Amino acid sequence: MNFAVIGHPITHSLSPELHNWIFKKLGIDAHYSKVDISREKLAYFLSGVSRSQFQGFNVTLPHKEAVIPLLDNVEEQAEQIGAVNCVVNNDQKLKGYNTDWIGFQRTLQDEDISVRNRACFILGAGGASRAILYTLLKEGADPVLLHNRHQKKALQLQTHMMSHFTSSTIAVISLQELTNFWNEDLILINTTSVGMTSNNSLLPVKYFHRRQTFIDVIYTPLETTLLRQASAVGAKTVNGLAMFIHQGLASIDLWLKQPISQSVNREEIKSYLIRKLQEEIPA
Ligand code: ATR
Repeated sequence: MNFAVIGHPITHSLSPELHNWIFKKLGIDAHYSKVDISREKLAYFLSGVSRSQFQGFNVTLPHKEAVIPLLDNVEEQAEQIGAVNCVVNNDQKLKGYNTDWIGFQRTLQDEDISVRNRACFILGAGGASRAILYTLLKEGADPVLLHNRHQKKALQLQTHMMSHFTSSTIAVISLQELTNFWNEDLILINTTSVGMTSNNSLLPVKYFHRRQTFIDVIYTPLETTLLRQASAVGAKTVNGLAMFIHQGLASIDLWLKQPISQSVNREEIKSYLIRKLQEEIPA
């Protein structure tokens, strides 16, 4: 069996390490590769190549939304989220799923974070933000505050989600307005790429409080500037590695059509991936 992740750029994806480690550990005769597909080649890849060569594949930046109209069908949750990160090839018919939201939901469970009736703030309005917003609304977070550099995208996401979650409060705010909503119980989630290649953080550290929870979807580096600053005031911090592992495990379950991921030791995978990340970034 052959699986892959498609995206552009794709060089730094850790997905092959994650999946090939699991296949080997569980004795599954399968291989997972990464395929660089530009925006221009996406339709071509979906129309033929993927159907004959792969039993399933993951979709990453920048194709999570663009892939939807090119699939034969899309599961309801992915449709509501408006992004697909996992595709199953059923006899050359491609069905799209979203396992990012499952990854985020399971991370909240692992970390014992309850969002019910709690105010949550999401930074960013891309593919990851869509899945996280969906999870938060499904789990009863209220209100959910949304900020994006280009506000129009946040407003579009707000309108889209409000049509599915009619009784929830989703507010699009500026960073200045965030201070009006700031409270000691706030859960703050960064879904942007800010902090990946720079030491920047978009949030005002002077307001950070030890009772707040900070979650970053980034896992390279494992501790972004945002998480380092939050940790310095004694706040709870969660990086993106667990979410990444959970979305991958949920993808394997869909491809193999059985809950195989339950037999995987997540701590072992985590240690293996951390070693791989350290190899990539020499001290
Ligand atoms: P993903 O699928 O990981 O969410 P994406 O869909 O490309 O990736 O979204 C990236 C997010 O990071 C977007 O919210 C983007 O903001 P814009 O929509 O305004 O572009 C945000 N982002 C990236 N670089 C940023 C920066 N330097 N400052 C603020 N936001 C940034």
